[in-house]
Parts: sequence; structure tokens; C-alpha cells
Amino acid sequence: MNKTSKFILAIETSCDETAAAVLSMEPSPRPSPRGRGRKTEWPKIQTLSSVVKSQISIHKSFGGVVPEAAARAHVKNILPVVEKALVEAKITSPNLSLKKERNGSISLLAKGGLREVNYIAITVGPGLIPSLIVGVEFARALGLATGKPIIPVNHMMGHLYSPFGRLNAKRYPLNANLFPVISLIVSGGHTILAVMNNIRDYKVLGQTVDDAAGEAFDKVAKLLGLPYPGGPEVSKLAARSKNPVNFPRPMINSKNYNFSFSGLKTAVLYYVQSLQPTNYNLQAKQNICAGFQQAAVDVLVTKTLRAVKEYGAKSISLSGGVAANKSLRQMLKVKCQMLGLKFFAPPQNLCTDNAEMIGIAACFMLHNGFKPKKYSQIKADPNLEL
Ligand code: KG4
Ligand code: ZN
Repeated sequence: MNKTSKFILAIETSCDETAAAVLSMEPSPRPSPRGRGRKTEWPKIQTLSSVVKSQISIHKSFGGVVPEAAARAHVKNILPVVEKALVEAKITSPNLSLKKERNGSISLLAKGGLREVNYIAITVGPGLIPSLIVGVEFARALGLATGKPIIPVNHMMGHLYSPFGRLNAKRYPLNANLFPVISLIVSGGHTILAVMNNIRDYKVLGQTVDDAAGEAFDKVAKLLGLPYPGGPEVSKLAARSKNPVNFPRPMINSKNYNFSFSGLKTAVLYYVQSLQPTNYNLQAKQNICAGFQQAAVDVLVTKTLRAVKEYGAKSISLSGGVAANKSLRQMLKVKCQMLGLKFFAPPQNLCTDNAEMIGIAACFMLHNGFKPKKYSQIKADPNLEL
């Protein structure tokens, strides 16, 4: 960190994770319009802290996220989560300790905990409106009280940029042959294929026309009686399968870059209904999970590779909660090795929602020339598009 370093407090509450992170960023020369100028470098981004308070235990019994319950939990958790992120980042005065402040009634924030923070980054959408509002109003209040500028971040931009935050800048200089990058974003709410021509310009090539990839994993898990969130459970059972069921690959040959997972989920349902109760055992579930996972991964990888070919891409980036799926990561990694492409993905434990990715997107927004806003200009938008 040097004197020009900027500190960013990032907050994320778009669904069922209350998250805060503190990042530092050393600005670098702006990218040229083509992102390949001799002088362009990565901004040096460091994650100083990242705190995620998951609500899985609250929503588990309902088999999915209950928006009202999520918002209530965000209200309860947001202050301690933000305070913890500030303390763990060690940018507050050493006299401000969380333990000390918890015993008193005045928040660490009121005692100058934000003094060193230059920007507040907040997810403004897309997401569940009751959840988004909690974070947005919290960030607006901080902006009002401290005068700090706010960076409104699109949650999907957080996923899009997340693979680039922890990149080894020496190994992958920005002006090397990284771009175009084909970016596959697979989360609980979205499935998006995009092309990034440089670190600033991207274009969405296609998305899901019905269920998102993560949603399909969750729904298949639910119909098999597996706990929420279903993605990791399906992939755990799939790993033990000896004889995967052959399921259809919807839209794999369609001429566009859109996806559809609803038919695949229905195919799983019909298969389950066709089984004799005596045959519907753990082994059958393992084979169903593996078959479903193979079909979903096959469609995702095939379309990503087709886009690579069409756009002459030099790298693939993978992000979103489903990027934690070992089979998908492995398949894309192997294809990249075979084709001489670079492969970027956040570490497996940082694929699902967190505030670090919101901070990373905010850093790249700044890097790309975004002008932060005043608190009064910030508004939640549940339908925000990439
Ligand atoms: O990005 P994320 O945390 O939230 C949204 O923005 O939607 O993604 C959550 C999704 C859930 O649907 C979850 O089941 C899925 O990511 N997921 C996985 C795995 N881990 C999380 N899906 C497949 N395999 C996994 N290992
Ligand atoms: Zn997400």
C-alpha cells in the first residue's frame, strides 16, 4: 500500500448473505480504449478483509430463500458484519476494538471507524428487493453521515469482475494476450455468457430463457429431497455415481448463446416418477445427480467454447455460485489447457456471494473512469441488467 492507495468498504445484501469487505486499490494508468496500450496495467487490488454471514440455517427449513426473513436477518447482521470487516482490515484506529465497542452502546462507525475509507461500494441490484433495500439504505445512511462517495455496483458485474481481483498481475500483464475473454457467469439467479473485449468493455451474448443454472441445481436437489442450497449437495452425490443417467442437453445446438434449464429439470422429474419406489435409493439419486450435472455442464461448456471460437477469445473466465462446481471448473480448465487458453475463476470458496467481488467490481469501475455518487443518487433496482 502506498500514499495513493484508496480504501473501499464494500457491502453486499442482494440475496441471503450479509457481507462486507475492505479492499485497497493502488490506481494505475487508465486503460486505453482498446485496453492494450503500452502503459496500461492492472490496478493493484488487495482484499484486507471479507466477512460473510450466511443465512442458510434460516432458509433451510423452507427449502429456499424467504425474502421477508432474509431482509430481517440482514437488518440484524449488517452493522456487526460491517464493523467486523473494518476491524479485520486493520485500517481503523487501534483504539477501536470490536469487543470494546460491543460493550458500549455506540457503534464503532459513529466513533470514526470509517475515517480511512475513501469509498463505499454497495450492491444496488439485481436481487430481492427487501434484501437489497437493507444494504442500500445502510450505505446511504453512511454516505449521509460521513459525506463519503458511494459506488453503486451491479451484482452481476461483481461476478463478472471477480476472477480478475486476485490475478497475479506479473503472470498476466494486462497488455498481454488476455482479451477477448469469454465470461461464463452461472449463479442462482442468472446464467450469462459475455465477451469482454478489454477490461472495460463487455457485451452479453446470451442468457437463460428460463431457470438459471444454479436454480436448476437447487430445484433438482429439492425434488430429490436434498437440503438447501442444493448445488453443493447435487455435486457431492454426483461424485459417487457409477452409472450416470443420460439426460437431454437443452439448446446445446441452438444457433444463439441462450440457455434453458427448465426442460432438463422436468426430465429429471419424469425420470424420478418413472422409477419403482424400490429402485429409488441412494445409488439412483447419485446417478440422477451425476446425469443432471453432466448434462448441465455439457451445455455450458459447449456454448462457451463455441463463443471462444466465434470471437477468437484468448481466455475463459468463470464466476458465480455454480463456478464452485468441481466438474464445471475441471472441464473448462482442461479445455483451456487443450486449446492454449488462459482460465480465470475465483477460488472455489469465493464463488458464492460475498462482498469482496463487489469491492473488486468497484475497483475496476474506478479504474475505468466511473465517478462515484452522492448518497442521494443511490437507489436499489431489483431488475438491474448487466
Ligand atoms: O452467486 P450465488 O451465490 O448467488 C446468486 O447470485 O444467485 O449462487 C448461488 C448458487 C446456488 O444456486 C447454489 O446451489 C449454487 O450457486 N452452487 C452450486 C455449487 N455451489 C453453489 N451449484 C453447483 N455446484 C456447486 N458446488
Ligand atoms: Zn451472486
